[in-house]
Amino acid sequence: MVKDTMMELDKALDESLDMLVKYCMSSSEIDRKLYYEYDVKRGLRDANGKGVLTGLTEVSDITSSVYENGVQVPSDGKLYYYGYDVEDLLAGRTELYRFEEVTYLLLFGQLPTKNQLDAFIDIITDIQELSGQFVRDVIMKSPSENIMNSLQKSIITLYSFDPSPEDISIRNVLRQSLQMIAKMPLISVYAYHAYQHFEMGGSLLIRNPDPKLCTAENILRLLRPDGKYTELEAQALDIALVLHAEHGGGNNSTFTTHVVTSSRTDTYSAIAAAIASLKGPRHGGANLKVLQMFECIKKNVKDWEDEDRIRDYLQKIMDKKEFDHTGLIYGMGHAVYTLSDPREVVLKRYAKKLADENGLDEEFKLYDRVEKIAAKMLTENRHLFKPICANVDFYSGFLYSMLGIPEQLFTPIFAISRISGWSAHRLEELVNNGKIIRPAYKYVGLHHDYIPIGERKSVIKK
Ligand code: COA
Repeated sequence: MVKDTMMELDKALDESLDMLVKYCMSSSEIDRKLYYEYDVKRGLRDANGKGVLTGLTEVSDITSSVYENGVQVPSDGKLYYYGYDVEDLLAGRTELYRFEEVTYLLLFGQLPTKNQLDAFIDIITDIQELSGQFVRDVIMKSPSENIMNSLQKSIITLYSFDPSPEDISIRNVLRQSLQMIAKMPLISVYAYHAYQHFEMGGSLLIRNPDPKLCTAENILRLLRPDGKYTELEAQALDIALVLHAEHGGGNNSTFTTHVVTSSRTDTYSAIAAAIASLKGPRHGGANLKVLQMFECIKKNVKDWEDEDRIRDYLQKIMDKKEFDHTGLIYGMGHAVYTLSDPREVVLKRYAKKLADENGLDEEFKLYDRVEKIAAKMLTENRHLFKPICANVDFYSGFLYSMLGIPEQLFTPIFAISRISGWSAHRLEELVNNGKIIRPAYKYVGLHHDYIPIGERKSVIKK
């Protein structure tokens, strides 16, 4: 019904849109030379692609270079949560609930004792369920094909269900953060089932979470018709959640959290904005793009061992002739990492284990081949400031598909995990009482004298 109304309006709009697009394009295009002239830090980067320093944080650290004899050289990437190397965090805890442990670390700045972790898990378990009214009136109503949209809508609507939504005291924001950390897995999976049922004619599967299970296990249990999963599957998802939980203050969605929080708005508005950012294909949405890109590669490269054919096809993608015509090879490149992205290294290991278990060894080898060939081609063909490597998204979609997670949930899984980092950064911004974030934009247009309506001429600027 809502879609019908929109389509009617669109039809009316269509006729006038072509001309309006021309005005829009001609008035929005800014001469590229001006960015150099005014030394604009496009994308908040300097001339070498390095991020402009806009804040300080203790939540996490990313390193991608080392000093050798006083010279900075690229190195394998390292990711630290509150000073702890993520690889050590993963190696140190062999049982499940790694994600919950890391969430505790991100929120409270220290690793929990056994008792603290148990108490924290109890809190999350106690508040994870959603009221029947919320499921019925928010999640089931007007389901969206894009579950990130459903997630965003649900998060913003939690405001109406909160007795003190506007209170931005640390105590209240922490309470709201815990609520979102606990509830986002259910919101995402239920929203997926709602879409499948109401729009795609599937069965409606709404199962309660099991309080004896961790976040990763519950996601698999809520998602699958039989509710069953293997130990390796739960381990792989738990680890994927840890690896996506936090990535510094400068990544697009976390920076968004800082920007929006700095205006002192409410928690739900700040997190809804972060979700909007994460959805983009240059950010969290890239994992879905990688999977879709591989579907195209598989269709067009019949012999997966034929490296020349793979190279030809990747060249076509880079030349904007194939796939989504953006020229991007998704899953490759990173604003900070150089030789490797530590998250990709771990996910690749688990992708291999799952591929072995699922008889998908050939497909894993294709990913591995594309990774190596793409890195070489991008180095040769793009103006790069630093070495290029595969990023976290390269294997995550493949891994999720082997876990039976539908592609609509790839980016929501990222959000379910990254809410821990966003919350930690929102709290850090509030605790430090930062100034409102307000960079400058220089006006490069002309000033005009007002023209009465009868004397105006329509023009399309060159
Ligand atoms: N495919 C094609 N070209 C790429 C590329 C890729 N994967 N990664 C970088 N480049 C290009 C850039 O477009 C840029 O070209 P330009 O100067 O003509 O615009 C050039 O190489 C230099 O890029 P660089 O400064 O090293 O990267 P960045 O910091 O601007 O961008 C990403 C980082 C992640 C946005 C970029 O690598 C990208 O778009 N990757 C694909 C999407 C993706 O996987 N995102 C997930 C990130 S975790």
